[in-house]
Amino acid sequence: MIASWREFWDRPHRIYVNDRHRQVHYERVAADIIGEIPDAQAAVLDYGCGEAVEAETVAARCKRLLLCESAVNLRGTLKARYAARPEISVIAPEEIDRLADGSVDLVVANSVLQYLTREECADLATRLRPKLSRGGRLIFADVVPPGGGVVADVSSLLSSAARHGFFFAALGGLAFTLVSDYRRLRQQIGLTTYEESEILALLERAGYRARRRPKNFGFNQRRMTVIAEPG
Ligand SMILES: C[S@@+](CC[C@H](N)C(=O)[O-])C[C@H]1O[C@@H](n2cnc3c(N)ncnc32)[C@H](O)[C@@H]1O
Repeated sequence: MIASWREFWDRPHRIYVNDRHRQVHYERVAADIIGEIPDAQAAVLDYGCGEAVEAETVAARCKRLLLCESAVNLRGTLKARYAARPEISVIAPEEIDRLADGSVDLVVANSVLQYLTREECADLATRLRPKLSRGGRLIFADVVPPGGGVVADVSSLLSSAARHGFFFAALGGLAFTLVSDYRRLRQQIGLTTYEESEILALLERAGYRARRRPKNFGFNQRRMTVIAEPG
């Protein structure tokens, strides 16, 4: 039985209700990441990158793209997919400590914090800080606020599904999710949620100046994105 979020993301799942949903999701995330890349010479780290199906689109807009993924099988798939692309590297979270100090211009962790404990999140922010270049930025995106719950996620999924032509597939996907490991883990382990003030304070304690970005990454505007710069 799957006992952790890390395991959940490393097994086949149906969070994306079909290929169209997966594609629309990753295109949007890639566009949001690209919007934050400072220039074409930048090194970008996508922490908890997931399937990263639009990594080449992001890589085309920067000099180096590091895909960091904790799920072992997924990491293997990414390594094989980008083996012939020297500008794209695939690393494990432990390998962050081996990156040269000051070598990364932008770190994005999109839709990841809810699966980390508060301690893991603070530790991550602390470990990433020396890796950022002068003027480098850390972006925690799609941070889940308390009280949003499943209803907000369902309504966000259905409205983007309606806009992008997979509404009925989304309904089917939701029915599946109701009986899936996702639902059980969400009930048993839950998601880590943050008030805006709390995530900003966590980042400040880790040595950053942090502010909320007016718009969240992705489609769910109940969630938030924060931008942090070493202070
Ligand atoms: C919802 S997916 C997000 C994927 C991608 N960033 C996106 O925007 O679609 C969550 C990601 O968090 C990663 N994750 C889950 N638990 C983790 C942990 N304890 N440490 C690091 N990453 C974790 C998963 O492997 C998964 O890739």
